[in-house]
Amino acid sequence: MTGPAADRPAHPPLVPPLAERGALAMSLEELRDWGMKFGRAAHAPVTVVIRGELGAGKTTLVQAICRGYGVVEEVTSPTFALVHEYQAPRAPVYHLDLYRLDRPDQLDAIGWDEIVSSRSVVLVEWPERAGDRLPREHVTLSLQHLPDDPHRRLLYAGWNA
Ligand SMILES: Nc1ncnc2c1ncn2[C@@H]1O[C@H](COP(=O)(O)OP(=O)(O)OP(=O)(O)O)[C@@H](O)[C@H]1O
Ligand SMILES: [Mg+2]
Repeated sequence: MTGPAADRPAHPPLVPPLAERGALAMSLEELRDWGMKFGRAAHAPVTVVIRGELGAGKTTLVQAICRGYGVVEEVTSPTFALVHEYQAPRAPVYHLDLYRLDRPDQLDAIGWDEIVSSRSVVLVEWPERAGDRLPREHVTLSLQHLPDDPHRRLLYAGWNA
């Protein structure tokens, strides 16, 4: 084949690089719907980091991703445990909330290395707390409040961002 189409990959990545797309402003319902679709399309092993300030909607998005991936159990915020594990038909799902982590070396106590090297879906809120122990290959989802609309959030998605 010749022409521009020949240069394109047959299966472009699910999430394009951050720089190549803008953000999406989403209502709660739209964000849940996006998360469900992302979860349905996700394949283990994958680490997904969810960035955003307090109340940005990180846990809401994680719950939708879990639902889409097939977690039947109720998904609650692992604020005190730091990590919750769920079973799903295709692979286990780990949901981590590192907000209360003081130093990256405390990751050892929750079995971080085993979790990120397992063949699982790993969803991490407050990934900045993990410092340089985040796996190099990961999907970044980032949520931001909109100053003039309390019902919508800006979502950015990128691979290895
Ligand atoms: N468009 C929206 N997307 C996501 N959440 C929204 C939206 N609009 C309103 N909300 C509300 O914002 C809140 C988000 O809470 P959530 O626990 O998901 O945030 P979080 O980022 O996980 O916070 P934390 O940093 O405390 O863990 C919920 O009460 C949700 O109903
Ligand atoms: Mg949360």
